[in-house]
Amino acid sequence: MSPREGGRKKVLVTAGPTRERIDPVRYLTNDSSGKMGFAIAEAAVAAGHEVTLISGPVELETPKGVKRVNVESAREMLAAVRGAFPECDTLFMAAAVCDFRPARRLRGKWRKKDVGQERASLELISNPDILGSIARRKGDRLVVGFALETADGLRRAREKLERKRMDYVVLNGPSALNAAKTSVKILGRDGSQRELVNRTKRAVAKTLVGLRAPSVD
Ligand code: C5P
Repeated sequence: MSPREGGRKKVLVTAGPTRERIDPVRYLTNDSSGKMGFAIAEAAVAAGHEVTLISGPVELETPKGVKRVNVESAREMLAAVRGAFPECDTLFMAAAVCDFRPARRLRGKWRKKDVGQERASLELISNPDILGSIARRKGDRLVVGFALETADGLRRAREKLERKRMDYVVLNGPSALNAAKTSVKILGRDGSQRELVNRTKRAVAKTLVGLRAPSVD
């Protein structure tokens, strides 16, 4: 049986936040704990798959049997995903990638004295969109992304599903960050919609690992 028809697959998972350096001791980041991505990696190993986990800085132990690659910034995560994506059958992009990074990384510490006034501002530039940039080479790989929305969730998640050429998007809210339980809607490219309410991330991960390619086109 070919790996893409079932059986043991190569599964790539991203998890955690990214960290965007301002100076040697400061950075921008978000509240992502990495729990969802690590739960997916664990569930994928339990299902018999070969798993690579690309993780931002988190305080979690690597699940048994998982190959872990640590990264810090969005650009490092992009390079690691680009390197591993061609070999994989399935990508779960659970990482909460910072949308922006400081335009310049200061070599020395940003000192109050250098600013010399009450207000200071930080110039930011957009980070690369990891999913968006690999979509062209997606082929028949299964791509599952996440969308954390605070308003108008269904519409925004569907828009991301289309724009980033995902097969499924997992919609959740800010309460999912750093929580043990989560409520999600899983929207498929085929128009399907499934809701899981107040489940452990482990249970959600098991459902996600069991997803099959939506039949459209
Ligand atoms: O941040 P946003 O809600 O657009 O994220 C949607 C999906 O795109 C998530 O799966 C996230 O991991 C991914 N993403 C990405 N590169 C970014 C921002 C988000 O791959 N720069």
